[in-house]
Parts: sequence; structure tokens; C-alpha cells
Amino acid sequence: MSADKTQHSNTASQEIDEPRNNQSDPGRNGITRRGFLKGAGITAAGTALLEGVQAFGRETSPAGTPGVTEIGPGPASVTLNVNGKEHGVEIEPRTTLAEALRIQMGMTGTKIVCDRGTCSACTVWLDKVPINSCTTLAVDAIGHQVTTIEGLSADGSLHPLQVAFVKHDALQCGFCTPGMVMSCAALLNSNPHPTEKDVRHAIAGNLCRCGTYPRIFTATLEVAGTNHKA
Ligand code: FES
Ligand code: FES
Repeated sequence: MSADKTQHSNTASQEIDEPRNNQSDPGRNGITRRGFLKGAGITAAGTALLEGVQAFGRETSPAGTPGVTEIGPGPASVTLNVNGKEHGVEIEPRTTLAEALRIQMGMTGTKIVCDRGTCSACTVWLDKVPINSCTTLAVDAIGHQVTTIEGLSADGSLHPLQVAFVKHDALQCGFCTPGMVMSCAALLNSNPHPTEKDVRHAIAGNLCRCGTYPRIFTATLEVAGTNHKA
């Protein structure tokens, strides 16, 4: 996970980290970590969040509830279906799907750029629907079909869209490219004859910092056999 996602103010994080090895000890000045958090207005929301997370674990997965599989808080072995194959992986409940794909499964075709759901470089399909894998927990993919950029190629042959991206040089640095291809391929699956407006809409959440949009439109419309703007 991005450090920024869990980052608090410097003051708060310093106060949390300092007494970590002595949490039950009143410590210097008789102040415990919990006591400090509860007493400081600046971290009142953080305290509520901590207690909320603990309560969430108790309420959603009470021990012994029939049909409920409790995962975590430590690493757990689960099975994910990726590109038509079952993959056994060891993940923590906080592990994102993007992290599981890249780190646990070595599928580095899926890129992590912003790691916070704003650029869609990490786009994969969950049951054929494009999603941001950096904001999807891996545990939420259990029981679903995940498709990555590696899964678009069949029998060693590139997907026609990948061929068109190469032909029209629809990439520069390439960081956005797997996500762009996954979004455009999903569009072609649901709408085989899109207009340029449809393509623009399909990649509205995909950011290309290099500005390759016109070539992406050209490549996608060529595969679709359409080249009109309406
Ligand atoms: S890396 Fe996932 S949205 Fe940017
Ligand atoms: S090709 Fe560089 S971000 Fe799109």
C-alpha cells in the first residue's frame, strides 16, 4: 500500500510510534498511547477509527458464525482465479488486488502508478468488468474471475488491440498502456462498433501523462472497423 494512504500528520504519527514497545506502561509522565490519543483533540477521529476497525472485525466475522470464513488479521492462504487459472496465494486482508497480482503472482503487466484510484493504470477485469485493482482488496476477488493484460493474449498471440497500439505507436512511456488496453478491450467486448465518443467515454478515467490519446482512439477505432467521431 502507498505510504500516503496510511500517512497521518507528522505529529500524530510520531506520538503513535514512540511508545509502541511499551503500550501498557504508563511511561513518562504517566501517559499511555491510548490515553494520549483519547485526550488529544487532533487525533479524536483517529481513535474512533481504530476502535471502529476493531469492532468491525468482531461484528462482521464473529467466531463460529456458520458460512462465514474469517480471514486475517495475519496472512492467509486463499485462491484467486486469474486469467482462467487458480492461483494459491498468501495475502493479508489489507493486500490490494494489484499488489497480489504483481508481488505474490509476479504478473507485473498490471501497473501501479497513483495507487489511490485516480489514474486507472492498474485496470484489470473482475468478471469482465474493468476495475481499478489498486483500490480493490484481493480478498474481494475471491470467487470471481480476474483478467489481466497477460490474459488478453491467446496462445502467444497478441490481442488485436495490442497489435493496433503497436502499429499506431499509441504509447510513449507505457505506464498507462496496460490499463488503456484493458479499458478499450472491455469496450469492444460490450460495444464492437464504438464511435470515438464511446472510446473517449471508456477511457475517461484512464490518465495518460504523455498525451497519447489521439493514437489510442485511432488504434481502437481501427480494430472496431469504425473511424467516425459521432
Ligand atoms: S494505480 Fe490504480 S488508479 Fe492509479
Ligand atoms: S504513455 Fe506515458 S502515461 Fe501514457
